[in-house]
Parts: sequence; C-alpha cells; structure tokens
Amino acid sequence: MNLEEFIKKSPKAELHLHIEGTLEPELMFSLAKRNNVEISFKNIDDVKKAYNFNNLDSFLKIYYEGAKVLINEKDFFDLTWAYALKCKEENIVHTEIFFDPQTHTDRGISFDIVINGIYKALQKAKNEFNLSFKIIMCFLRHLDEDSGFKVLNQALLHKDKIFGVGLDSSETGNPPNKFKRLFKKALENNFVTVAHAGEEGPPEYIWEALNHLSVKRIDHGVQCLKDHKLVEELSKTQIPLTVCPLSNIKLRVFNNLKDHNLKKMLDKKLMVMVNSDDPAYFGGYLNKNLIEIQIALNLSKEDVKILLVNSFKSSFLNEKKKIEWISKIS
Ligand code: ADE
Ligand code: ZN
Repeated sequence: MNLEEFIKKSPKAELHLHIEGTLEPELMFSLAKRNNVEISFKNIDDVKKAYNFNNLDSFLKIYYEGAKVLINEKDFFDLTWAYALKCKEENIVHTEIFFDPQTHTDRGISFDIVINGIYKALQKAKNEFNLSFKIIMCFLRHLDEDSGFKVLNQALLHKDKIFGVGLDSSETGNPPNKFKRLFKKALENNFVTVAHAGEEGPPEYIWEALNHLSVKRIDHGVQCLKDHKLVEELSKTQIPLTVCPLSNIKLRVFNNLKDHNLKKMLDKKLMVMVNSDDPAYFGGYLNKNLIEIQIALNLSKEDVKILLVNSFKSSFLNEKKKIEWISKIS
C-alpha cells in the first residue's frame, strides 16, 4: 500500500476545525438564496478568486462575510452535516470542532439556533455512522472580554453539548492574557480550555496560553521553534500542537509546504498532528493536508503513523477509546 492509500484508509481524529470554515461556496450561494441574504460575490468563480489571502486578517474578513448566510437552525445543521459526511468519506472517526458564537450573536442570531443546529447534525452522524465528537466554543479575541462573558453565560445553559472553550480570530495585538478572567470563569465551570497561539503571534503568546489560560492544547503553535525554552517545555509536557499545513500556506505563515516546520517539530518529539482548520477556504480537508505535507516534507510511513496516533493521543476521548483507535493504525 502506498502512503496516500495508508493515509486515506487509516482512522483519524481531527482536532482543529472551525465549522464555519467548512462553508463551501456552493452551500454559501444556496443559503444566500434560501435566506434572501445579499453576498458580495457574483458567482462561485468570483468567490474562489477572493480566496487569495495575504495573512490571517485578510482571510478573516472574507470568512466573517461568508458566515452571514447562516441564519436558521437548519442552516447550521446543513453546514455541519456536510462536514460530517466529509468525515465519513475521509475515515475521520472522531472530530473536535470549533464554533464562533459571537460571529452569529452579533448579527442577531440566537445562541440556541447556532448550537442546536450544530449539535443535532453531529448527533445524527453519531447515530448513523458512529462519528464521535466534542464541541469547543471559541471566543473571538478581537472583541473584548465582556462580550466573551456574555457568550460564556449562554454556554452555561448548554453544558451538556459544549465540552470546552477556545480562543481564535485576529492574533496579533490580542494576546491570551486579555482573556485571563474569562478563561478563569470557564475553568471554574469545568470547561476544558484550548487557544490559538503562535499561528502568526510570538512564542510569548504560547507561554501566556499555557501559564494563564491553563490550556490543554495549543492551536497552531508553529512559532514555538523560535524559543528553545518553550520547545523544551512543550516536549517535556507533551502539550499537543494542532498544526494545519494548508492553512499556514494560504495565510502565508510559510511561503510553501516545503518550508513548513512540521518535520522539525516531529524531530524535536513535540506532540503534533495534522488538521484542516478552514478546509473550504484553504483548499482541502484532512486527507489532502496529510497527503500534501507528506509529499512536501518527504515524511516516512513512521512519521505519518506518529501523526495519526498523535491525533488520537491528543484528543479528548477517554483512554479506552484512544487505545482502541490507535490499535487500528498499522
Ligand atoms: N478562525 C478561523 N480560522 C482561524 C485561524 N486559522 N486562526 C484564527 N482564527 C481563525
Ligand atoms: Zn483555527
């Protein structure tokens, strides 16, 4: 079996996936029509042309624009169901997805509509093809902490559905410490915490997320190699870094895949795995991320196996489930 087949047929966990980032242009247009929402693109080709980003902020502008077509519970259901079907197709057996409530509540969409649509689709996928999942609510870091407290209070009413909280959006100038009090309250209410850090931002932001937000995982974290002490710490604690190769190229964190530092991170024994981030915007779902980075960095089968095993080790599944899935990777 060649490596591409090995990647495709192996069970995988995805740990860094924004559900709003799975909005394919075709669905964006059909929802715009269904909901009578005007979007600033003429046609699907026009959308694809706009997906040429200079950095994280230039992407986020378009991403928040696209999300405006999501209005009703059925829209969030359809969006999530389409991603669940991708999981089935790609042998993703466990997924931990992010959603950004403030992107919707700030447009007057109720929190309940958002979470219920997402949750019902994932439950259906669990019942129909045994997809397991966790839902992580992200705070938008370009907004203030008070806005975060408002959605955290809403999340407390949905504790049965929401497993953890995270931090995303525009990183530079919005350090983790801005949200210390908010994460303290989330932790007091037994939410697990994660945070985007070191995507574009400095290693210092990764330290802050570890030391002041008590995160169990760092999302991206690719800037960690600039700080030897941090690498030592991440290697010692085995705090996972959810790396997203195609995202990093599209947002120009690295010039091309051959320059990506994933292999260096593996060589330093960091707990890394591969994820798709916003696949509808960055050109590919999980298998494509794995296949393209394998080719670009000439990763061995052993390297790929470590990435797949790490996806389960780093997940929030229980130990028994982790062992079960890992035993199927060979
Ligand atoms: N929101 C969606 N994708 C993101 C990313 N890659 N970084 C920060 N915020 C995001
Ligand atoms: Zn992300």
